[in-house]
Order: sequence, then C-alpha cells, then structure tokens
Amino acid sequence: MKDLIVYYSLEGNTEYVAEKIAAKTGADTLRLVPKKAYHDKGFAKFFWGGKSAVMAEKPELEKYDIDLSQYERIIFGTPIWASNITPPLRTFIDENKEALKGKSFAAFACQSGAGAEKAFAKLSKLLGIEGLLPSAIFIDPKAKGSEDKDAQIDKFAETLSGSNAVK
Ligand SMILES: Cc1cc2nc3c(=O)[nH]c(=O)nc-3n(C[C@H](O)[C@H](O)[C@H](O)COP(=O)(O)O)c2cc1C
Repeated sequence: MKDLIVYYSLEGNTEYVAEKIAAKTGADTLRLVPKKAYHDKGFAKFFWGGKSAVMAEKPELEKYDIDLSQYERIIFGTPIWASNITPPLRTFIDENKEALKGKSFAAFACQSGAGAEKAFAKLSKLLGIEGLLPSAIFIDPKAKGSEDKDAQIDKFAETLSGSNAVK
C-alpha cells in the first residue's frame, strides 16, 4: 500500500520537501488549505500564525477528497510555528481520528532555527504514538536552498522507502 504525505505550507518550503519526497518514493500528497488563509507578510504573519499555533487552533479546511483506507503510512509535513506544528494539521488529525487508527506515521518539519523537536513531541501525542516518530528537520530548504539540503531530503526519502514507521 502507498504512503500519503499530508502537509501544510505557508511559504513553500514544506511543499518543496513534500514534492521531492513524493517524486522519490511515489507517495501521494495532500496539501491542507485553511478556508481563511493565514497572513503571509510582515508582522501580521508572525503574530496571527504564532497565536494560532500557541492556542492550538483547529482552523476550518477547504474540502479535501482522500480515502485514507488506501494508505498504510501517513507522513506529516509542517512548518514550525512557535515551536509547534501548524494548526491545519490539528484539524486534519481531529477530523480523521478514526481513519488514522492503525496507520504507521512519520513526519518532517521546516524551520528557520529551532522548535521542531518540541513540535514532534506534540504531534506524537496527538497521534497517540508511544515510540519514536521517524522524522527529519529541514532549515528553510527552499528559501535558503542548497545541494546539501536537497541531499538531506533525498536521504530522508530513502530512509522512508526502506523502513516501516512506528504505529
Ligand atoms: C507564525 C510563524 C512562526 C514561526 N515560528 C518558528 C519557530 O518557532 N522556530 C523556527 O525555527 N522557525 C519558525 N518560523 C519559520 C518557519 O518555520 C520556516 O520559515 C519554514 O521553513 C516555513 O515553511 P513554509 O515555507 O512551508 O511555510 C515561523 C514562521 C511563522 C510564519
């Protein structure tokens, strides 16, 4: 059975990684789109996005059409906001609690500095995972792209291809 990459991306870094992993592994992708778009510029971007992440909001999402029973493993992709996962992922996990039961999981995050470990711990808790979540962290891999960062993404994709993520 296939993998599904479920991700949110405000500025394209997470999408960049999701597409690269999908190209390398053959996974399908689902980009989450909040009905009310987050600000993407200046102070408002950090203020409203940061607040929404800290408050653990669950924003309403644009309708998506996905049959989760087709997938064995879900790979979550998120930017790090205030050391947290982005709110659209919370909505998705909440909306699909039953369908996610029994799946394997993995995750990757894009950040500028720090916070992904804390965010992964929160994600694991939301998913009810006790073991280690197979994961990778990328530093602004599109905005500050490099051959090294692309190689790091390829390496993570290879790890995913050759492993069974935790349940
Ligand atoms: C609201 C907001 C909060 C952020 N908080 C953090 C943070 O806590 N730590 C960090 O390293 N980067 C933080 N960033 C930077 C993004 O995580 C980083 O630029 C990421 O690569 C963006 O991914 P995207 O292009 O897919 O949206 C924040 C960005 C925004 C907009």
